[in-house]
Amino acid sequence: MSAKILDGKALAHSIRQTIKKRVEERKSTGQRAPGLAVILVGDDPASEIYVRNKRKACDEVGFVSRSFDLPASTSEAELLALIRDLNADQAIDGILVQSPLPAHIDEETVIETIQTDKDVDGFHPYNIGRLAVRKPVLRSCTPKGVMRLLETTGIDLHGKEAVIVGASNIVGRPMALELLLAGATVTVTHRFTRDLEAHVRRAEVLVVAVGKPGIVRGEWIRPGAIVIDVGINRLPEGRLVGDVDFDAASQRAAAITPVPGGVGPMTIAMLLENTLEAAARH
Ligand code: GUN
Repeated sequence: MSAKILDGKALAHSIRQTIKKRVEERKSTGQRAPGLAVILVGDDPASEIYVRNKRKACDEVGFVSRSFDLPASTSEAELLALIRDLNADQAIDGILVQSPLPAHIDEETVIETIQTDKDVDGFHPYNIGRLAVRKPVLRSCTPKGVMRLLETTGIDLHGKEAVIVGASNIVGRPMALELLLAGATVTVTHRFTRDLEAHVRRAEVLVVAVGKPGIVRGEWIRPGAIVIDVGINRLPEGRLVGDVDFDAASQRAAAITPVPGGVGPMTIAMLLENTLEAAARH
């Protein structure tokens, strides 16, 4: 078998086109363009690239993006003061603070200072909690993007064995809540899991979000599975790869996401969608 490639780049492009049209409609009826504040603290090179892509995507769909590039020496109090100003700013619908933050700033405090209806990353405990009680409002971007990719396969998730590798706050945990809401039987594996291979071999839907190339071997994939690879890793020779051994996995899977061009572009498309949703509510 050779897997269908789930083209996140193309799907994200079509979602951005739809958002662009909705922004034009808003403006033609006298409403303002959605506004997103993007805050970067310090000079982590990967974060700089992510933030640049997010700002570029905002411009492309006609959002107003406001950029804050703060030095690594910024105090937590200064960052919280900026967030409070943006919470009160009527032209701003979404606030995004790129992680990771410098070690002297507490990430939880920062996330919890963002007004829940401007939390377009969907990281605030209120938004995670709403998803947990089956009443999602702003949903975490990467898991939401994965659900969109799964929709394109036509799979009915009810009763399916879904296995998530990685239990982070930003991917694994909200991913489990999304799949549970969709009716799947969900297993979350993590660093203390004893027999990762046995869990992966059972998966009809597999989502891997660890950040270690090759952590999932191709021969572990259940024949006919749908494989979603959230990992983005740069090998020493410069090539970008996911967490799953793609070549071997695509011989067994029914569908698989490539890296790059799978989940990554979907995360940004969902950020734009969340910002538009927040603007519609404000
Ligand atoms: N760092 C890695 N992924 C993300 C993301 O989706 N949002 C933010 N704010 N920071 C990140």
